[in-house]
Amino acid sequence: MSDPSVSSHTHAASVNDRPVLLDVRNLSIDYVNKDASPAQAVRELDFTLRAGEVLGLVGESGCGKSTLMLGLMRLLPPAGRIVDGAVYFQGRDLLALSEAEMEDVRWKNISIIFQGAMNALNPVRTIGDQIGEAIRLHMPRQDSAAVDARIRRLLDLVGIAGNRKDQYPHQYSGGMRQRAMIAMALACDPQIVIADEPTTALDVMIQAQILELMGNLQKELGLSIIFVTHDLGVVAELCDSVLVMYGGVTAEYADVDTIYNAPRHPYTQELLRAFPDITRPAGKLTSIPGYPPRLDDLPPGCRFAPRCPQVFGRCRQEMPPIYRLDDKHVASCFLLEGESV
Ligand SMILES: Nc1ncnc2c1ncn2[C@@H]1O[C@H](COP(=O)(O)OP(=O)(O)OP(=O)(O)O)[C@@H](O)[C@H]1O
Ligand SMILES: [Mg+2]
Repeated sequence: MSDPSVSSHTHAASVNDRPVLLDVRNLSIDYVNKDASPAQAVRELDFTLRAGEVLGLVGESGCGKSTLMLGLMRLLPPAGRIVDGAVYFQGRDLLALSEAEMEDVRWKNISIIFQGAMNALNPVRTIGDQIGEAIRLHMPRQDSAAVDARIRRLLDLVGIAGNRKDQYPHQYSGGMRQRAMIAMALACDPQIVIADEPTTALDVMIQAQILELMGNLQKELGLSIIFVTHDLGVVAELCDSVLVMYGGVTAEYADVDTIYNAPRHPYTQELLRAFPDITRPAGKLTSIPGYPPRLDDLPPGCRFAPRCPQVFGRCRQEMPPIYRLDDKHVASCFLLEGESV
């Protein structure tokens, strides 16, 4: 990846003037399992996504990224419960819709590329057939010729020759399977695409191609994208803003330039030190010592306190609130108390 500190984000500035499409407020999600205390997987999460904005959702494995995305799509597994909050899409609270109304929002307004989905394609059905199913289900008035033309157009959009629609998943490379998943997500012209770790299983070259494709699609189609990743290094080029999660809560949320050049939460600072940097000799990568907390057995104060290099007494007793540092920069750390606006 190129040096994120030099990326110029004129796009980010203009995005802040666009209308808000998605407004997630105070969203909290538990996993409730028998014989165990509930796991507080997501707590009091707030963020907005504007038309044409690319948001990076970043944090270590287990911090609740997928849970947050599945929650706002109302696709949580049976143990998952939304315990508080609202998810406004163009002003309508998705959590108040009937299941049928919600099903209409999925695909047509917001579509999701599930984590690991490229490896879960049906092996005995062609790629074209699987993309076509999404079109037929959600745009039922199209005849088969129109569906066929649409499959080819979608494949073309993601850089796959239309005549490969009749091939099976095993005839596609990993990168092509991920492109096919992106095509499927675009099947019904959504305004928002959520991509959960879309590049994680791919090698570095292919990863870069997928990122480039998503950037191009964003521009061409004016898409809004939520890009979920554990690797802060991946999102610099693509994103306008970044939400850093830790242990189910917001650590820091700001424009991409602020996150990379002036991060204020110790966790963001540590994450930046931990991602691969081509200017540093191989082997000098630092990882953050310790492990993320168990969500059913959280520490009493700040969730990052047990691993924080700047921890002090209060951090172990109270949970820090979210401090607003400026218009679009919030962070949850007692060190910032005096700077709150
Ligand atoms: N059914 C469940 N019951 C209890 N806890 C669960 C359940 N599913 C997930 N969790 C817990 O919820 C937390 C958040 O998981 P989630 O998959 O959202 O994390 P993530 O940030 O997407 O991680 P990754 O980067 O590995 O994909 C984890 O600690 C996980 O163990
Ligand atoms: Mg996940």
